[in-house]
Amino acid sequence: MGIRLKAIVVYLSTSGNTKAMAEAIASGIESRNVDVKAVSFYDVKPEELNEAEAIAIGASTFDHEMLSLPMDKFMNETLVSVNPKGKIGVAFGSYGWSGETPILIAEKMRDMGMAVLDPVLRILDKPTDKDLQECKRLGVDVAEKLKHRSE
Ligand SMILES: Cc1cc2nc3c(=O)[nH]c(=O)nc-3n(C[C@H](O)[C@H](O)[C@H](O)COP(=O)(O)O)c2cc1C
Repeated sequence: MGIRLKAIVVYLSTSGNTKAMAEAIASGIESRNVDVKAVSFYDVKPEELNEAEAIAIGASTFDHEMLSLPMDKFMNETLVSVNPKGKIGVAFGSYGWSGETPILIAEKMRDMGMAVLDPVLRILDKPTDKDLQECKRLGVDVAEKLKHRSE
């Protein structure tokens, strides 16, 4: 009986660019037989974050930061409340010119004691097929890391 390891990919996306990245990351994780779900941060339940051994969070950059109020609340209240210390973290997002948000997400994850994987993945505008392949690869890496941990 194989263990079904769990991961969750949470995103904030205004026009679908970061959402496409989230779905590609999730498909990479799933391709290695790890249970995963890609979900908007508006819909994610704290129990789902709590159960996940790996949490990927993506958001696009607006005015040099996260689309601030709702996403800040998610990072500083919802994520903190599940105490993600020790979990694997992945930060990503689409951007137009400066792309600070994924770096901010990674910093917060590290502050909370999460083990953040490289790369912090930033994609300019709408992801191309090649970009989506890169996202998928990151998902495969997440799954491999989870499997190593459970050995
Ligand atoms: C009002 C507005 C402000 C933006 N500010 C920034 C910014 O400061 N830095 C940046 O890199 N991109 C900025 N962008 C570009 C978005 O991050 C980019 O369009 C991204 O692909 C949107 O991804 P999403 O569909 O996942 O939300 C801005 C876009 C808009 C509409």
